[in-house]
Amino acid sequence: MLGKAIGIFDSGVGGLTVFKEVADLLPRENLIYLGDTARVPYGSKSVKTVQRYALEAAEFLVDRGVKLLVVACNTASAVALEQLRERFQLPVIGVIEPGARRACASRNRRIGVIGTEGTINSGRYPQAISALVPDARIFSIACPLFVPLAEEGWAEHEIARLTALEYLQPLLKAQIDTLVLGCTHYPLLHNTLRGIFGADVLLVDSAEETAKTVQQLFCRQGLENPDSGGRREFYVTDVPTRFERVGQAFLGAELGRVVQVEIG
Ligand code: SIN
Repeated sequence: MLGKAIGIFDSGVGGLTVFKEVADLLPRENLIYLGDTARVPYGSKSVKTVQRYALEAAEFLVDRGVKLLVVACNTASAVALEQLRERFQLPVIGVIEPGARRACASRNRRIGVIGTEGTINSGRYPQAISALVPDARIFSIACPLFVPLAEEGWAEHEIARLTALEYLQPLLKAQIDTLVLGCTHYPLLHNTLRGIFGADVLLVDSAEETAKTVQQLFCRQGLENPDSGGRREFYVTDVPTRFERVGQAFLGAELGRVVQVEIG
């Protein structure tokens, strides 16, 4: 296992929220990130298409000898996780179960879930939450415009606030006390959402929870890499220019070299 990396993939730049949390918790691990920027977004594509994309992205990372795979994309986690686990002989962690576990902190058991159309239509968050809190009332809403707003760097713009207000009225009426941010991009809208829901609603960032799950698995299975240099590699499937620019905003730091590759 020594020297082997953790592989993380997403449809694009959004999974860098997961990458950042994993890098913070496991700074000495080597990390390889793949953003399938040529085919983003996954959230509006059919289940079959997302499953094929996820398989191809995972194959790219497995070919690089990773020891653990993190599916940072909520949509891919919702529809392709089981297939990936069946296909590859290594631990595969998605973002849905970790997010659902954190949502169980809800006091009034009225929980909102927001995500892409693919994630919301899959029903995976309500399933995962209900398995843990059977009497939870779960209110799910797709917010497809949040991804382009985040990618445009407008996550805290007035347009984002108005868009969020429009989408989220039913959740305000439902008096939720917990909101699951079920898309990699949504943590960037944290301040906008906080402004709408106020301080009392718990905003669940699945990126944070997923990184904790990776760390716990590392401890349990002895996968740590104490002597690795904490190498970071970034791959994308389209020209890297936009990924580099937006990625910097996601990570709060320069990414270094980003390599364009073909997958599938
Ligand atoms: C997308 O590709 O549509 C957004 C990523 C996600 O579902 O987390």
